[in-house]
Amino acid sequence: MIDSTKILQDFPLLQQAGPDGKRICYLDSGATSQKPQSVIDAVTNYYEQFNANVHRGIYPISERATKETESTRNKIRDFIHAAASSEIIFTRNATEAINLVARSWGEANLKAGDTVLLSEMEHHSNLVPWYMLAEKIGIKVEFIPVTDEFLLDMDAYHQLLKSRAPKLVSVTGMSNVLGTVPPIKEMVREAHAAGALFLMDGAQSVPHMSVDVQDLDVDFLAFSAHKMLGPTGLGFLYGKKALLNAMPPFLGGGDMIGKVHLGSFTCAELPNKFEAGTPSIAEEVSFGAAIDYLRLLGMDAVYEHERQLTAYAIEKLREIPGLKIFGPLEGARGSAVSFTLDYVHPHDVADILGSRGVCVRAGHHCAMPLHERFRVPATTRASLYIYNNEEDITRLCEALLYVYKLFG
Ligand code: ALA
Repeated sequence: MIDSTKILQDFPLLQQAGPDGKRICYLDSGATSQKPQSVIDAVTNYYEQFNANVHRGIYPISERATKETESTRNKIRDFIHAAASSEIIFTRNATEAINLVARSWGEANLKAGDTVLLSEMEHHSNLVPWYMLAEKIGIKVEFIPVTDEFLLDMDAYHQLLKSRAPKLVSVTGMSNVLGTVPPIKEMVREAHAAGALFLMDGAQSVPHMSVDVQDLDVDFLAFSAHKMLGPTGLGFLYGKKALLNAMPPFLGGGDMIGKVHLGSFTCAELPNKFEAGTPSIAEEVSFGAAIDYLRLLGMDAVYEHERQLTAYAIEKLREIPGLKIFGPLEGARGSAVSFTLDYVHPHDVADILGSRGVCVRAGHHCAMPLHERFRVPATTRASLYIYNNEEDITRLCEALLYVYKLFG
């Protein structure tokens, strides 16, 4: 079991008082998580103790920097149960990881008229790269609908696999708005049977549950460090080795080359082939501490803590007059809970909550098509993580009742 009160002590920012003088109540981990002291210390330690570029210097501090970044790569391999460290590519964020697949795999393997199948609940980062490819080379983009119950329409999925014969299915492991967790394993199996590859956008799922890429059999997985206790500026692409080996490089420059001559170049081996230029060294080093922190808790315990707290939050939120939740009320769902209040705009809700020390996100959450689907311009979202507890839910609901009294 997770002891969120004990965990809170590890997060310096969460000791801060909000505008109302009470401890800050942070409910926006879907946007970015807070960082434990061990991760913050790891950043400082790198700059104080072994700040040097990686893969270049043949002197101890540079060798140490290389060793520690590669140690993080190995930890990520174990964390997502990849077969090899060379299948883990460091990127700037999950968005860049998806763009890497669209530009490298997509341009090499897709032609005009080929279909990429997405869903209506994707983040813009799993929509726009494919739209850009549609504009550039004429691929078609199709969408798995979301039902009125906020689930992926699996009948429609089966039909689309048959009728459109997509080359790639690219779907989120957890909606950042609805909290919906699609049946990824089943979807991958069906995609493969229909001849399609499968990319999972794991930005919202990898931080919150155990993910085993070999068991799921996904071909690509994109996720980012900052939503799972790590620093900003670092993301990851997992890809099956044979696919990555066959793909052309994405960005060109130092570190991704084998040899460069006047007028020609050869590529480095994986993973360097996809890692041009000086990487985010401090971030890579410190992300190792984030993985250590999560592994010590255990991802099944993380999931269970959030499952219980989310169920409690939904129960309490439903008592607020005029509040409508956009997302499944039970079943396979994560800890993002989005809602509207009948009588007030989400931005006003977030503003008033913020003045009471309760941090939530309001807007379209980079999922405009999903909001259009449900005919709302915006929602307010509370998203939970390991350091949240029932007291945070009470603070959220008290602040919402205050909004109700003000506007209701
Ligand atoms: N994609 C992040 C969110 O949902 C930023 O808030």
